[in-house]
Amino acid sequence: MFIRNGWYVAATAKEVGRSLLARWICGEPVVMFRKEDGAPVAMEDRCPHRKTQLSLGSLVGDEVQCLYHGLRFDGAGACTFIPGQGNIPPRLRARVYPLVEKHTWLWIWLGDPALADPGTIPDYRWNDAPGWTPVGGYLNFKADYRLLVDNLLDLTHETYVHARTIGNMAVAHTPQKTETEGETVRVTRLMKDCDPPPLFRRARNFTGNIDRWQKIVFEPPAHIKIDAGGAAVSPADAGKVLNWWILNALTPETEASTHYFWSVSRSFLQDDAELSDLVRRQTVQTFEEDRDVLESQQRMIETDPAGGALLAINCDAGGVAARRIIDARIRAEAP
Ligand code: FES
Ligand SMILES: [Fe+2]
Repeated sequence: MFIRNGWYVAATAKEVGRSLLARWICGEPVVMFRKEDGAPVAMEDRCPHRKTQLSLGSLVGDEVQCLYHGLRFDGAGACTFIPGQGNIPPRLRARVYPLVEKHTWLWIWLGDPALADPGTIPDYRWNDAPGWTPVGGYLNFKADYRLLVDNLLDLTHETYVHARTIGNMAVAHTPQKTETEGETVRVTRLMKDCDPPPLFRRARNFTGNIDRWQKIVFEPPAHIKIDAGGAAVSPADAGKVLNWWILNALTPETEASTHYFWSVSRSFLQDDAELSDLVRRQTVQTFEEDRDVLESQQRMIETDPAGGALLAINCDAGGVAARRIIDARIRAEAP
């Protein structure tokens, strides 16, 4: 069900410090912390001795001390101390995962560590590049991550689900183009001379129509970046452009829940703190609307006595292509 040889966001860089943070990732318990020099560590959150959750214990210097019998493990997973016992059996090792800090997030690799190349971490430069102002956050959805992938690769639903923020009629009525190249899926929708949706109007004070665009890129395991915006067409608004990237790093928690790391990064009115606040609030509102739909969808899928496949129409082409890539990767990794 999960790609394991791939980079997932495990936490925001700020979330992890000098205490133990527990989080399930792809059905595996993980504990994270930073060493005294700031280096981040991710370890299986299960003591090699009797399987107690290590995150119930404490951080002693750069070592994790298990709550139950006081064994200590260093950042490489080696057991360094057994109370009352001199020799340490080498098999008493905690599993550690590669964990890399990049673009304000911490990236974990659950699969074969020999294949973990930090050079292949997806490009989320808009989180910390000069010229861009990001707002971001973390949400937890009680839904299969693939439902979030479907949702973000088909923005047709904006018209119906997000009419108060980013939905307008042009979205649902303009077909989108889907292209697959290797493991990348691109979904593009160009809406000519349409009315700006409510958030666009508030963020950029458009008085007339805009040419609106949505350019969505998917790459595995579950990363979706959306270049979205609008350019004024009316002479009264000449030169006004709204351009932001909606960045979505999806990390499965379990088969039926997802860690959702998001940011919206803009290249206009960069120092406008009030606008940042507006974008943050409206984005959270928009994603909460998605949550209501997706969590309900998850419940209805789980309780459907008939089982049966989800049906696809034209607008589902992006999600179908992404799921095909995910399935192929999972099959390729199967022993
Ligand atoms: S279970 Fe962790 S020290 Fe015994
Ligand atoms: Fe949505």
